[in-house]
Amino acid sequence: MKILSVVGARPQFVKLGPMHRAITKAGLSHLIVHTGQHYDDEMSSVFFSELDIPKPNLNLGVGSGPHGQQTARMIESLEKKFLEYKPNWIVIYGDTNSTLAAAIAATKINIPIAHVEAGLRSFNRAMPEEINRIVADHCSDLLLAPTAAAMTQLSNEGLSSKSELVGDVMVDSLNYILESLKKRPVDLKEQFDLPNKFLLATIHRAENTDSKERIESIIDALSKCTTPIIIPVHPRLGDRCSSFNINLNTGNLRSIRPLSYRELVHAAKSSEAIITDSGGLQKEAFLLAKPCTTIRSETEWVETLENDWNVLLPDLTDLSEVSLREVPKEKQPQPFGDGSASEKIVEILTKNK
Ligand code: UD1
Repeated sequence: MKILSVVGARPQFVKLGPMHRAITKAGLSHLIVHTGQHYDDEMSSVFFSELDIPKPNLNLGVGSGPHGQQTARMIESLEKKFLEYKPNWIVIYGDTNSTLAAAIAATKINIPIAHVEAGLRSFNRAMPEEINRIVADHCSDLLLAPTAAAMTQLSNEGLSSKSELVGDVMVDSLNYILESLKKRPVDLKEQFDLPNKFLLATIHRAENTDSKERIESIIDALSKCTTPIIIPVHPRLGDRCSSFNINLNTGNLRSIRPLSYRELVHAAKSSEAIITDSGGLQKEAFLLAKPCTTIRSETEWVETLENDWNVLLPDLTDLSEVSLREVPKEKQPQPFGDGSASEKIVEILTKNK
């Protein structure tokens, strides 16, 4: 049985890691196609090496561009490769333009698609990822839901007969990296001259980086926090700040290069708290029991909001106090599964080949 995974952007490499291990452990053939949506070493190859994923069998080299152009280029190349490889399953991950392109290309030529991280919704159609998720789910033959809430959503959309609750592959990935950090720790303190107490911030979403006013207000609020903040800079944020002439090293805010996954997990674990607009980091904060403040008006990961482990703060009011709130006292539930999602997925794929 042949499984073909399509990935392209940073968060997908994190999900691919445990899937690749589970697929090879089951003795199945795994082809990895990288669309090339992310291409910098810091955004791509370092994730493959740290997560022990082999080099992709193919890189389409699509690169950056407007949504339509980027997605269209991917669809054209993916269709050819899908027809050439004829896999039993095409596995797609999350909600990026690479997910959308693979879903459209595969469904038109009737190759079965399995969507990892199905059923997530922000109910905000202005987000490019929301459109990608909806289309990907409705094109897919097997919907692999990370949470009970995602299962309910799939059922609301008439998709329950194709849906399976498997847990979140990001738990599998995080566990793997935590083990690797125990054996081989990283030292960010020395490398970046970090203070003992710091907050970790990441900002990259289109809605937070596309206008000068919005970035300025976020950077201003971060710089005024009472505890030092380090911000690994996503290329989109870096580009926008240089073109708008916005200084990322101001007040209590300090910018550093994008972190590898091992470095990011270590930084998150060592931080007092997290401020972000990333979906993945909201969950990582929750799993590492760090209070998270999310600079968005909604989240797909509603489970993280329980007991204020995660607080939505789109208007940035009292960011310093909110982000430094106390750790909730209540015992944390475990809504994201037990770290065996990828093995469950491979079992389901094998049964339904
Ligand atoms: C994409 C995903 C988003 C995900 C994010 C993680 C979509 C619609 N969005 O957003 O869901 O959370 O990845 O990073 O697919 N760039 C580089 N080097 C790179 C990659 C990008 O410099 O290796 C710069 C380019 O200027 C590019 C910009 O970053 O135009 C945005 O990259 P793109 O892949 O289009 O979207 P992301 O913002 O990364």
